[in-house]
Amino acid sequence: MRATFRIWRGDAQGGDFRDYATEVVEGMVVLDAVHRIQAEQANDLAVRWNCKAGKCGSCSAEVNGLPRLMCMTRLSDLPLESPVTVEPMKAFPRIRDLVTDVSWNYRVKKTIKPFKPRPPDAPDGTWRMAQEDIERVQEFRKCIECYLCQDVCHVIREHKPAKEFIGPRFFVYAAALEMHPLDVEDRAGQLREAHGIGYCNITKCCTRVCPEDIQITDNAIIPLKERVVDQVYDPLRKLFRIFRR
Ligand code: SF4
Ligand code: SF4
Ligand code: FES
Repeated sequence: MRATFRIWRGDAQGGDFRDYATEVVEGMVVLDAVHRIQAEQANDLAVRWNCKAGKCGSCSAEVNGLPRLMCMTRLSDLPLESPVTVEPMKAFPRIRDLVTDVSWNYRVKKTIKPFKPRPPDAPDGTWRMAQEDIERVQEFRKCIECYLCQDVCHVIREHKPAKEFIGPRFFVYAAALEMHPLDVEDRAGQLREAHGIGYCNITKCCTRVCPEDIQITDNAIIPLKERVVDQVYDPLRKLFRIFRR
């Protein structure tokens, strides 16, 4: 059958949607259709992708208005009677066609205090960790840095991007460090002030779009908020943490 794809074409200065009708067959995903259109009708169509397996996080875009990985969005899950819209992520500056400039995220990552392990537990320089403590952070390590959660977050969208808000992807990253059984760094003050965790009002939009099913709000943001409250407003707990470290 034939289906129509309404693809945003343009650059940082502006652009518009253009319709492309193409042949689609069973098993195709949105990225396949975009590639077919690129091969047959629009050789200059810019699209970023790499693995076509939902693992590199490059092909993020908005399909019918929802942040999605193009390579993991099956055409059989979309209504093909009407045009399928494909446009670049809205939270980041456009470069060309479906490609956005996500470099703000790389700069944000560098501002987060790095992993700081406690001194080794054994004379041979090794540590001991309980399996259940490891499992707690493993979920966060699944992140593929697709930035779909950043794209959907209203704080980032409204401030494009927010100066004092690192966004859900980096709350996940901070949680992976904070909850690591060996880490002794204190990020609570940074999370509260420079990283703006208080701006998150737990709408859970980020969790709903995560292709790795990371429970961003329940497992990362809410526990981090609790740590910030504990450390900033509960002096006894603050003292306890200092001694524990
Ligand atoms: S839960 Fe917080 S971080 Fe996630 S989308 Fe909503 S405001 Fe943004
Ligand atoms: S947390 Fe999920 S949605 Fe956000 S960047 Fe990582 S994989 Fe993508
Ligand atoms: S091409 Fe790698 S996640 Fe889609």
